[in-house]
Amino acid sequence: MPHLAVVTGIPGVGKTTVLNELTDLARQNKFDLSVLNYGTIMNEIMGELGKELHRDDMRVQTLETQRKVQELAANEINNRATQHEVLVVDTHMFVRTSSGLWAGLPQNLLQKLRPQLFVLIETDPEQIADRRKSDSERRRDQSLSSEITFDLEWSRATAAASAVSTGAPIKIIRNEPGKQKQAALDLLQTIQSVIT
Ligand code: AP5
Repeated sequence: MPHLAVVTGIPGVGKTTVLNELTDLARQNKFDLSVLNYGTIMNEIMGELGKELHRDDMRVQTLETQRKVQELAANEINNRATQHEVLVVDTHMFVRTSSGLWAGLPQNLLQKLRPQLFVLIETDPEQIADRRKSDSERRRDQSLSSEITFDLEWSRATAAASAVSTGAPIKIIRNEPGKQKQAALDLLQTIQSVIT
């Protein structure tokens, strides 16, 4: 049975940056780990369904469409999970859709994926706002610090519900300015202590 860790962080926190560092670190340590981005898999599925989308346009599709693609992506992740000792799923505790705040991993998908660890990547709201502004390649929501604080809290609340329903622990890892390698090291050590 493959081991699965869910790593989340609100947009702009630097989640993908930390996960790229994690992949390098795991390789150096000869640790069999692979990272899959949930949004990328959803995009691939949308393409197969005949609708090419920019990744930042996924959250504005109808909830019905997103729900269908979200479930197909979970099936695909399960298929790929058998190829590595540890699979890290890069995703979100929740998504801001036009219908409201929607769980990234609702109960039916948690039952399918059975994660053994939840990780929240966090940093200060002001840092997140700055990182969003400086990331010119993406179409990010430019939120106020107070809105970012709300999203960090909502992520924690959703993670708590997921932890209760699965029995998996939650680890909060800080991605401080310029310290993405340290965050990746904390993450690798947490995965090794919890999962293997
Ligand atoms: P996703 O692919 O996860 O996009 P995202 O939220 O924008 O997150 P990124 O992966 O781009 O990473 P990041 O924002 O944390 O930061 P980055 O490393 O780029 O999701 C795309 C879409 O897919 C979602 O919107 C949703 O629609 C859909 N989706 C995904 N999962 C889903 C699910 N389960 N259900 C339904 N839909 C789902 O870094 C940002 C900037 O910060 C960069 O400029 C970087 O250089 C800088 N930075 C990073 N770390 C540091 C540091 N330590 N110090 C200084 N600068 C730093």
